Amino acid sequence: MTKQQNNKKEQLIKDLNFDLSHEYGAVIQYSYSASVVSGLYRSALKPFFEEEITDELGHAMYLSEKIKSLGGIPTTKAAEVPQPTEVKDILEAVLKSESDTIVRYEERRKQAEELGYTELVVTLEDMIADETGHKEEVERLLLDSRFQ
Ligand SMILES: [Fe+2]
Ligand SMILES: [Fe+2]
Repeated sequence: MTKQQNNKKEQLIKDLNFDLSHEYGAVIQYSYSASVVSGLYRSALKPFFEEEITDELGHAMYLSEKIKSLGGIPTTKAAEVPQPTEVKDILEAVLKSESDTIVRYEERRKQAEELGYTELVVTLEDMIADETGHKEEVERLLLDSRFQ
């Protein structure tokens, strides 16, 4: 591995750790959202939020393993998560997290490709598909006329 490739690998490990902290943040955000969501939407949104926790935890576990495999130390810190209380604000905060995550994984996919990490590229694509599914669900929930 050339010095330049090694620098790219170090940067990738650092960035994957940032992603990992955000996946832990997503677990907390969905758990928080399931707990505080109130009003008429609670019965629909609580199970929706709870289901997302499993996906995000799976992403976190994958990233943690991958960081270690690449020679890094997986972070144990979760990213800061906002604490909105209104349903619309909760959904918008989730939408922002998912959108930001997709942008990061598109970038990470390019970095992994440059280093020839095919398995990481493919898994990031799966994760982009998962996050896009989450994002689109939340966008559709926000289409409710009472949120306009
Ligand atoms: Fe995720
Ligand atoms: Fe997600």
